[in-house]
Amino acid sequence: MSKVGFKFYNFKTLSSTNDKARELAKDRKYNLVVTAEKQKRGRGRFGRKWSSGLGGLYMTLLLKEDNLDNVRYLTFIAGVSVARTIKKFTDLNAEVKWPNDVLINNKKICGILTETVTGKENYALVGIGVNVNQGKFPKNITQIATSLKIESNKDYNLDKITKIIIKNFNSLYKYYNGEKYDKIIGIWKKHSHTLGKKIRAETLSGDFIGKAVDVDDNCNLILRLNDGKLKKIVEGDISVI
Ligand code: BTN
Repeated sequence: MSKVGFKFYNFKTLSSTNDKARELAKDRKYNLVVTAEKQKRGRGRFGRKWSSGLGGLYMTLLLKEDNLDNVRYLTFIAGVSVARTIKKFTDLNAEVKWPNDVLINNKKICGILTETVTGKENYALVGIGVNVNQGKFPKNITQIATSLKIESNKDYNLDKITKIIIKNFNSLYKYYNGEKYDKIIGIWKKHSHTLGKKIRAETLSGDFIGKAVDVDDNCNLILRLNDGKLKKIVEGDISVI
């Protein structure tokens, strides 16, 4: 399968679009997009809260996948799809931050939460949150979050943005299905905010400081530490220092 015709399930309020997509997977529905105008319990990586008031774009793509070993590439595809969409609608320079964010002017405009459902059939849930028409954010995230409205002083049509993200996702998904992972990594790198920067990586096995020199074929971030050694970062949070 190279291209998916997604069916849309649109809601006003959901707990989380990822949870709704998980429910639909239980009913063996798939290749669909769940959207909500707001989420009551929108969440991010490591169980963090995702601010989900009106004006933001909240959606989850539910994909049927035989093999769930490579879903990290879906996160990369989603990030690039959002960055390309932002560039189509605005003059803003949207960049992907390893592993699952999109930034504008060093602030977060989009987060991606990819989860899986296993059983008789396997599914990937690609949850995408984009800050679009919010004029402000809760105090605790004003320094790190931004929206298209804050950056450009304009409002945007959420449906149009959603459709272009899906279109962009579809055009990259063919590489995923064709196992052309190197192609996905190559495209991601072209949009990268991370590479070339000195960063701190906070991981379960400790903090590491170094220059982000590469992303390998498995989506891992490669740091050159101060002593010149290369360190592979598989999972964690990074910040530019
Ligand atoms: C992160 O930055 O850690 C990921 C944030 C992902 C947020 C999106 S919004 C749509 C979908 N539903 C959720 O509950 N989370 C994702």
